[in-house]
Amino acid sequence: MAAAERGSREERWSLAGATALVTGGSKGIGGAIVEELAGFGARVHTCSRNAAELECCLRWEEKGMRVTVSVCHVSVPADREKLMDTVRQTFDGKLSILVNNAGQHLVKPTVECTMEEYKNVMATNLESSFHLCQLAHPLLARAVGGNIINISSIASSIGFAGSTIYTITKGALNQLTWSLATEWAPHNIRVNSVAPGFIATDMVEKGSKTHK
Ligand SMILES: NC(=O)c1ccc[n+]([C@@H]2O[C@H](COP(=O)([O-])OP(=O)(O)OC[C@H]3O[C@@H](n4cnc5c(N)ncnc54)[C@H](OP(=O)(O)O)[C@@H]3O)[C@@H](O)[C@H]2O)c1
Repeated sequence: MAAAERGSREERWSLAGATALVTGGSKGIGGAIVEELAGFGARVHTCSRNAAELECCLRWEEKGMRVTVSVCHVSVPADREKLMDTVRQTFDGKLSILVNNAGQHLVKPTVECTMEEYKNVMATNLESSFHLCQLAHPLLARAVGGNIINISSIASSIGFAGSTIYTITKGALNQLTWSLATEWAPHNIRVNSVAPGFIATDMVEKGSKTHK
């Protein structure tokens, strides 16, 4: 984006004073979200499982963006609680934006999927989002106008051969979004989904290899 265009957008869309938690921000779509939010002045915390890749996120600090990181396996309940404790302490108990982005794509014929794989993809893509919304609720309610953005997929609303478990999680994520949007509107918390099509990230790269 040209510097002048970015400059005029920044004047209109400042996030100075906002705080954000983006799960899975070490790379891919989550990495782009972290950079965009921090670029508009928000303080951002992000997490993933890979400590070495998270260290690379500190490059944003060198550019003057305020980004902190911690290792978290979002499919593990105790890790999610620890993550929200870290966020609470880092942002003085207030969170403006929660982006549930961390996710995994399992590409496999349905009859070959194991129960272990089912539980793992469900826990990573769906249970983690549900639980992080619950844990973040008091922090979001304390911010002036909290926001949740669940990263869904076009696979949430179409048939997608070879990706049944993934599509179940994304369809349910849409339903989580609709239900929380109505339940938490009186608490001044907005809840939305974004459903991207194909974006060339490690996830798509791994999926295409699985198909071959
Ligand atoms: N790329 C697409 O075409 C596309 C399309 C529609 C929707 N989406 C959705 O967009 C989101 C991001 O996907 P992406 O394409 O950017 O994938 P990606 O490049 O593989 O990045 C996924 C991110 O999530 C983290 N992550 C994965 N499992 C995790 C876990 N259990 N605990 C903590 N962090 C975890 C990864 O780090 P570690 O692996 O190091 O933990 C990484 O930071 C996903 O929810 C995906 O379903 C992607």
